[in-house]
Amino acid sequence: MKATIGFFSCLLLLGSGLALGGRPAGGVGNDVGPEGDAEYGTRSVDREYDAPYSDVQRILDAKCTSCHTGAAAARGLRLDSWQTLIAGSDHGEAIIPFDAGRSLLVELTTKLVGGPHPAEVGGEPLTEAEVALVSEWIDEGSPSETGEIPFADARNLLYAANQSVAMVSVIDMETNQVIRTVDLQQYGLPENAWPHHFAVEPDGSYWYLSLIAANQILKFDRDNNLVQQIDFVRPGLLALDPGGDNLYAARSMAAVSPPQAIGVIRRSDMMAEEVGIFLQRPHALAVRPGEGTVYTASLAVNQIASFYPEDEAVELHELAGDRPHTFIGFAVSPDGRWMVGTTELTASLFVFDLDRAPDMTPVDTIAVNAAPWHPVFTPDGRWVYVGNNWDNTVNVIDMESRTLAKVIEGNGLSQPHGAAVSPDGRFAYIASRNLEMPVGHSKYEHMYTPRYDTGDNARAGTVVVIDTASQEIVKIIEIEGYGAGLGAAAPN
Ligand code: HEC
Repeated sequence: MKATIGFFSCLLLLGSGLALGGRPAGGVGNDVGPEGDAEYGTRSVDREYDAPYSDVQRILDAKCTSCHTGAAAARGLRLDSWQTLIAGSDHGEAIIPFDAGRSLLVELTTKLVGGPHPAEVGGEPLTEAEVALVSEWIDEGSPSETGEIPFADARNLLYAANQSVAMVSVIDMETNQVIRTVDLQQYGLPENAWPHHFAVEPDGSYWYLSLIAANQILKFDRDNNLVQQIDFVRPGLLALDPGGDNLYAARSMAAVSPPQAIGVIRRSDMMAEEVGIFLQRPHALAVRPGEGTVYTASLAVNQIASFYPEDEAVELHELAGDRPHTFIGFAVSPDGRWMVGTTELTASLFVFDLDRAPDMTPVDTIAVNAAPWHPVFTPDGRWVYVGNNWDNTVNVIDMESRTLAKVIEGNGLSQPHGAAVSPDGRFAYIASRNLEMPVGHSKYEHMYTPRYDTGDNARAGTVVVIDTASQEIVKIIEIEGYGAGLGAAAPN
């Protein structure tokens, strides 16, 4: 029985009879990228560069290739051609196009603690003029001799929020390298904007980002131009209906008594409404593909709300439990049949059979490690990956046997938070915050120490790459401070 106990109760924020309006990003975004350059992120372009690659290669040949060439190249980094420089080392990217300041090659040659590279290994350091030239070339997009911009055509993109520094790291899921950074401060947002979570269009054409502290939701295009921004109080998790036009927003854990409402945002024009769901602190959020029903759960009480967009009805469901479970995240299987919910305080993964809706009694409860955070399904629906925020592990749940099949431990897991998988299902990704550990909340010895000490990177966040065939960590991608939510185009 579907008891309608509510309908759109909008305008909690404005109270003026107007829905929350989507507004174009004022003065930024549409035609001007964060570099103030309309060619930002585009394909190869016919233009003159101030720092042509031939000048960069001359510097590398003189001071770097003696150790960085061939099969014995230090760390697998070959600096004898544009292609190999772009390909990076065994560990990841040497440069991030358009962002010299955060490129490892520049950081190591300018601020490595103990002496700028390669002086500490007996090489001759770069002069200031050489650093300036290489930096200018990177900031122009790191073009090849023929003007090709690296990764301009990359299509399988993973977005990682750097919550403590108002940045987004964009990772290419083919090479598992950071290929772009998006600095929100360049769009006039504050350093404490707290970017948190993403939703990505199924075709990758746009991505959406919640800003907890700046109280906004942003829309970017594939080339990372800010297209629109709307006001929204304390947004947390985002989810979109792949078959429709709606984006949904729940509330951040940082909000102690947020509106008992979720955001319903039309993605095409970013017009937003608040929908009352009569649930305290709605946090976990997922959409059932195909049918479009939205599920959210409370951090405070054992309740789940179902929202049916077609008739704007809301249903509340009570869950058993003598103490709060504190649901953190929901994920729906790609076929739409199963939903899993992770709980912070009872360390469980609940399994819901959505074919039994509106009955939301869990069909299974799987005990997992402490504080499972954001769950994600593999594209075949067989496995769920989730990082355990207080345990520095990743739990792999076999959805066929409904068991905890594997506990992954390893360097790089330090307060795991966001989760994503590549569209081909080959890799699972878990972001880690790597903040100072609250006592009792995490294993201190799991703090991640970056490979190089550049003086300002002790708390660098990470994204670990897990090979889903071996269920082992195969790479640690270092990002900026506080890795929070991850976003990739479906499945999610
Ligand atoms: C004398 C040998 C030597 C020279 C010359 C040298 N390097 Fe290195 N490079 C190394 C070694 C060894 C490492 C690994 C350092 C470590 O493990 O601490 C390294 C590491 C690196 C890395 C980090 C790779 C990674 O992902 O871990 C970068 C970037 C780099 N070098 C760039 C340069 C540049 C640019 C130059 C020229 C200005 C240069 N190197 C010159 C020996 C050299």
